[in-house]
Amino acid sequence: MNQMAAIDGNSKGNPNFTTNDTTAQAVKDTLLAPRFYRTNYAEMDRLDVEPVRAEWDKMLAEYAADNNHDHFRGEVDYDAEMHELSPELREEFIDFLVSSITAEYSGCVLYNEIKKNVENQDVQDLMAYMARDESRHAGFINRALKHLGVAVDLGFLKREKDYTYFKPKYIYYATYLSEKIGYARYITIFRHLEKHPEKRFHPIFRWFQEWCNDEFRHGESLALIMRANPHLLRGYNKLWVRFFLLAVYSTMYVRDHTRPLLYEALGMDPTEFDFRVFDITTEISKQVFPLTLDTDSPRFRAGLERLREINVEILALKQRGGLGARIKRLGLSAAAGLTFLKLYLHPTKPNAIPEEPRLAPVW
Ligand SMILES: [Fe+2]
Ligand SMILES: [Fe+2]
Repeated sequence: MNQMAAIDGNSKGNPNFTTNDTTAQAVKDTLLAPRFYRTNYAEMDRLDVEPVRAEWDKMLAEYAADNNHDHFRGEVDYDAEMHELSPELREEFIDFLVSSITAEYSGCVLYNEIKKNVENQDVQDLMAYMARDESRHAGFINRALKHLGVAVDLGFLKREKDYTYFKPKYIYYATYLSEKIGYARYITIFRHLEKHPEKRFHPIFRWFQEWCNDEFRHGESLALIMRANPHLLRGYNKLWVRFFLLAVYSTMYVRDHTRPLLYEALGMDPTEFDFRVFDITTEISKQVFPLTLDTDSPRFRAGLERLREINVEILALKQRGGLGARIKRLGLSAAAGLTFLKLYLHPTKPNAIPEEPRLAPVW
């Protein structure tokens, strides 16, 4: 699982986090923060992948071959490769790492729970492999965080974070998208830094290519599950697909714009970056979703901008505190809801799902 994350919170203004502060930050639930999930295991037990058996077995063989086995094990010479960071950039970078580790670990916990609670061998095998990968990813980020003098206590996070219940089909839509958008984000940053190596201010970015291939494959697995159960992509379920596309895209847009220094340091414009990531994700999602969002439409873009502005105002009011600020925040939350609704009602583009379900990570 990947990047549905933002942290607003108690770390602001303090570059000297302790482990506990950082864990508290990761535990905190905000609308934009990565969540932990539970689901209906009995229903997942009945999942049938027979219609895609050939592709399924091929994919499981890829997981078993484990070509990234050693990728996350090597020594990283942080001191040699890390640039000097301003306290403000350091803070945004730590925010980025904390939300990333929370998302990775959230995937790890969910996949592990499913594996433990189902009897269905196909589902068990898949979940074991995906949990393996996410645990490597989370561990790798934790090493980077430790080097920065902070660490997230993952055991504490697992115990203390609130869990959101999602029906299996919502898990399929949401994790499919977050895996694929995670791939699109990592590969876009990686390709950019290939062209501008002087902007690679931390060694972690060198790991992104193989890393995102894991995420890509996770997304492929969820795509196969949905392809094997086409009712998930028809009728009123299309409304859910549309909802999750918008929720994931708009969350990412708002959250990325809360980290201007991070993108400046990478030499990227967050708006351009986000629309590039939407383009890639939309292109990929045509393998399974019956519709795509029209992210190029000026009205759609204006709606996302409005959501971003509202978020900025809400964050400022949170800092201010007091009754007046709280009332204003209620008004702004309503405005955000209305803007989201308008975006939801914005016309989408129909997509004919192709014959061939699998894609290669060619971006
Ligand atoms: Fe993943
Ligand atoms: Fe991951």
